[in-house]
Amino acid sequence: MIPTHTLSRFIRAQERLHPGSTGELSELLSSIALGVKLISQIVTTAGFKGLYGYSGRTNIQDEQTRLLDEEADQVLVEILGSSGHFGLLVSEEQDSVIATDARQENAKYIVAFDPLDGSSNIGSNIPVGTIFAIYKKLDGRGPAKVDDFFQPGTQLVAAGYSVYGAKTTFVYSTGEGVHDFTLDPSIGEFVLTEKSIKIPERGNIFSINEGNSPYWEEGTKNYVSLVKTLDKSRGYPYSSRYVGSLVADFDRTIRKGGIFLYPASTKHPKGRLRLLYECIPLSFIMEQAGGMAVDGTEKRVLDIVPEDIHERCALVVGSRHDVKEYLSSVYDPKKA
Ligand code: AHG
Ligand code: MN
Ligand code: MN
Repeated sequence: MIPTHTLSRFIRAQERLHPGSTGELSELLSSIALGVKLISQIVTTAGFKGLYGYSGRTNIQDEQTRLLDEEADQVLVEILGSSGHFGLLVSEEQDSVIATDARQENAKYIVAFDPLDGSSNIGSNIPVGTIFAIYKKLDGRGPAKVDDFFQPGTQLVAAGYSVYGAKTTFVYSTGEGVHDFTLDPSIGEFVLTEKSIKIPERGNIFSINEGNSPYWEEGTKNYVSLVKTLDKSRGYPYSSRYVGSLVADFDRTIRKGGIFLYPASTKHPKGRLRLLYECIPLSFIMEQAGGMAVDGTEKRVLDIVPEDIHERCALVVGSRHDVKEYLSSVYDPKKA
């Protein structure tokens, strides 16, 4: 089969549907896709290049960074920093925002990314990935400023993620559906695999780290015992799946349906995941695929305005039916 629908051709075709579009968005996404291809290559060969170890540095998340985290970070800082389109970068691995040369030319866009998600799984052949969120800087204020990142996810220009697994997946949305591509290493191109992904209205998989159950709030405890009840009339019990790489758990959820939860707990009072470059981009994708994304309360993640580039957020995402069941376990436990 001749792969006619490569990522760059697909993005350009999508842009042509909008008269007057400048083609800049396709260049943005192509630069991210190039970064993902390079990281995919690094991840594949990391084992024998001694990249599994720790770098000796501790990042602002108070987590020990691995050499592979830093390699992936370096790739994206280089590629996105030199693309000419992004004035400022935020990376999970960089304590503060990074100003690029393009900032002086008033570059219109800013990008936040998790260069390598799932670091705890590095060294075992479990999928890891990259997550990104693209905003336009606020108009009329000159070069981009750090508070240009303090916009709700409803203002996103584009968001996406990749999964480095048995294949390299690239999933993105510009607000007109969620599109899925697979890297064909023989031609070095991402080829369209699924257009306009839609999550099932209900699934039968729940995904949460049950090792944290002693720290959970009542609502989470109620919900997890509900999905483990033997009650065929309500479609329970569900299967449990937890990879420990957000991108892998999320990618399974959006394709098969069900629910992923990293809720607030006494161990992680604001949740463990990061709002700007994990929760917001993936919530944008989930809503574009017809699912729901809340912060563990009824609050829609996309309505949250970040106040710090590294702030954390609780995350409950997935099929509408399942997220609503979670919320009724939190707010109306008797009904659940
Ligand atoms: P990162 O590797 O970018 O720090 O992200 C790790 C996150 C996420 O990938 C995953 O869902 C979560 O950590 C797993 O946390 P637990 O090990 O506490 O379950
Ligand atoms: Mn992560
Ligand atoms: Mn990471």
